Amino acid sequence: MSIEQLAETAQAMVAPGKGIIAIDESTSTLAKRFAAVGIPNNEENRRAYRELLLTTPKLGEYISGAILFDETIRQSTKAGVPFTRVMADSGIIPGIKVDRGTHALAGFPGELVTEGLDGLRERLKEYYKLGARFAKWRAVITIGEDMPSGSCIEANSHALARYAALCQENGLVPMVEPEVLMDGDHDIETAYEVNEVVLRSLFEALYNQGVMLEGTILKAAMVVPGADSDESAEVDEVATSTLMCLKSAVPAILPGIVFLSGGQSDEAATAHLDAMNRLGPNPWPLSFSYGRAMQQAALKLWSQDLTGNIAKAQQTVYARARENGLAALGQWTHGG
Ligand code: 13P
Repeated sequence: MSIEQLAETAQAMVAPGKGIIAIDESTSTLAKRFAAVGIPNNEENRRAYRELLLTTPKLGEYISGAILFDETIRQSTKAGVPFTRVMADSGIIPGIKVDRGTHALAGFPGELVTEGLDGLRERLKEYYKLGARFAKWRAVITIGEDMPSGSCIEANSHALARYAALCQENGLVPMVEPEVLMDGDHDIETAYEVNEVVLRSLFEALYNQGVMLEGTILKAAMVVPGADSDESAEVDEVATSTLMCLKSAVPAILPGIVFLSGGQSDEAATAHLDAMNRLGPNPWPLSFSYGRAMQQAALKLWSQDLTGNIAKAQQTVYARARENGLAALGQWTHGG
């Protein structure tokens, strides 16, 4: 696979006014989301829910790619059309979550390391055949007392870089995600410092493993105060802090940065992205790769009537895609 092809895919993922919908919840994570709204977690409901999302009319106007879970990339609509075909028809690039989740980091109580490198080359070859053109790996960094440790940051950066190199070897654009969690009572300055040190470590590891940044997408957390912090931050403070952090640690050659929503409200996730783009021009396109902030309204509606509310739920998916697409251009207006 040439770097030109990887770069082309990466650029298409962050095309102007478009972003990614993350629907790659593992079976256990989706079980939690379903349980919160009273939906039984079985394969048919998971399939039907993903069909609802992926067949949202005109989704491709604002969505360039969708991240799928292993089960999802093999599934089809009720009428038997493979999801990857549905996506190709709407111009949406299939992506795939390839990590195998977080596990306790031995020797560092409370810290996590993401696993999934064993056998990854073979899995990537299969995913490519199934149609995937990018792949996500999520590392989780927790802020707390004496956390994160340098060892945790280093172990996760190393794994991200090894996975990214394997992706490029097999024709997939790596979407590297070092998620610094919002959990905790830390202030925004602490979030800034941790995000900066994590990003510096990640880009050093990517360089050491020979990863070509022209064919890589960063999925970043925004710099926000902890969810249990007494302080709140204005939209502009989040936007300026996040931008400063990224500019100090992320090489300009990267084709794009997309954000996770991480537990922010729908409106906050959109307003923050919009504010960052209004502060541009920036070194990279800044867009979204939201899971919850794209889906939560739709999931709630669908849970109230699994057959009758499909169109209504799809309208909210389209509306969220449109709002975030406008925010990716710095053209979102509150309530508009
Ligand atoms: P959230 O936007 O819900 O944080 O999910 C994005 C994601 O893919 C996390 O890995």
